[in-house]
Amino acid sequence: MTRSAKDFFAPLAVGAPAPLREIPARPSRAIHFFDPGNPKMAAKVPGMVGTVDVLLGNLEDAVKAENKEASRQGLVEIARSTDFGPTQLWTRINSLDSPWVLDDLTTLVPEIGHKLDVIMVPKVQGAEDIHYVDRLLAQLEAKAGLDRPLQVHAILETARGVANIEEICAASPRMQGLSLGPADLAADRRMKTTRVGGGHPGYLVRQDAPRDEAGGTRYDAARATYQQDLWHYTIARMVDACAMHGIYPYYGPFGDIADTVACEDQFRNAFLLGCVGAWSLHPVQIAIANKVFSPSVEDVAHARRVIAAMGDGTGAVMIDGKMEDDASVKQCRVMVALADELAAIDPDLRKAYDAIPDQPEA
Ligand code: GLV
Ligand code: MG
Repeated sequence: MTRSAKDFFAPLAVGAPAPLREIPARPSRAIHFFDPGNPKMAAKVPGMVGTVDVLLGNLEDAVKAENKEASRQGLVEIARSTDFGPTQLWTRINSLDSPWVLDDLTTLVPEIGHKLDVIMVPKVQGAEDIHYVDRLLAQLEAKAGLDRPLQVHAILETARGVANIEEICAASPRMQGLSLGPADLAADRRMKTTRVGGGHPGYLVRQDAPRDEAGGTRYDAARATYQQDLWHYTIARMVDACAMHGIYPYYGPFGDIADTVACEDQFRNAFLLGCVGAWSLHPVQIAIANKVFSPSVEDVAHARRVIAAMGDGTGAVMIDGKMEDDASVKQCRVMVALADELAAIDPDLRKAYDAIPDQPEA
């Protein structure tokens, strides 16, 4: 038997905070990863508050086994001594099959649970992983006397996780979102790549061979090729599953830090398909994500124009030779709502959007 829908609104431990009924739409264009056990990186964290939507203390992959405890302790110290203001603090705990994760949770929730917004859980395979974390968090929240529930974010990085994507999103009211984990996912799927995110020159389609005058086909002629997106299928599934459950999808890491152009392209594909943000592995990627995941001034201007022209939102109008109707005005409302959320926390964007001339009412 599945749980009654009503049970989802009751805490999973006596004294734990009431579960959220909706996940707040807080801007999270860039989730900037830092290793809290690396003194050089840790020292930079307080200065980054206000410059990035999310700072994430990473305890999992990229932290060496002998440094796991130092990273966990480093995160406790940074969280205690830093005022995060408008910036969210997230963490990525170790995977559920590791010897470190229990200490991660039993340390972080009582020590800094009141400062943490979201706990990212890697290598999630199915709803059972979320149920385990859900109950444990409720017990720890109750013990620590927290007054708001921690949210949970799952990384989509196993074949089974992709197969179970809808049930993972539905597994708990704590579910805040999903990130694509292209590196682990490639390994788990036995893809033949060796990269962290991004495209691959071998994954392409080729233009048809031209014909010669005798009607033969010239297979040896020069032909254009077009690189395809290895991640399209997974991101599209992730976007649908998240939208269906009222939670948020994210592109994950893009490992080629120097290739800012290709990074921007991958992030933009994700934005256009419905993602709200991406990971940043280096400060240069924060600027890319902030730019890509904020609607352009042109898009906001056009969206406002359509909304104004559509009046009550029904019927159809022609704008610049293009038909707009009930469905396109809904797309425009998504764009304007996102612009309003971002303008509330980003003064430069607010200035840019405020400078758009008012649109005449219909
Ligand atoms: C991220 O964790 C990845 O595996 O890509
Ligand atoms: Mg991974």
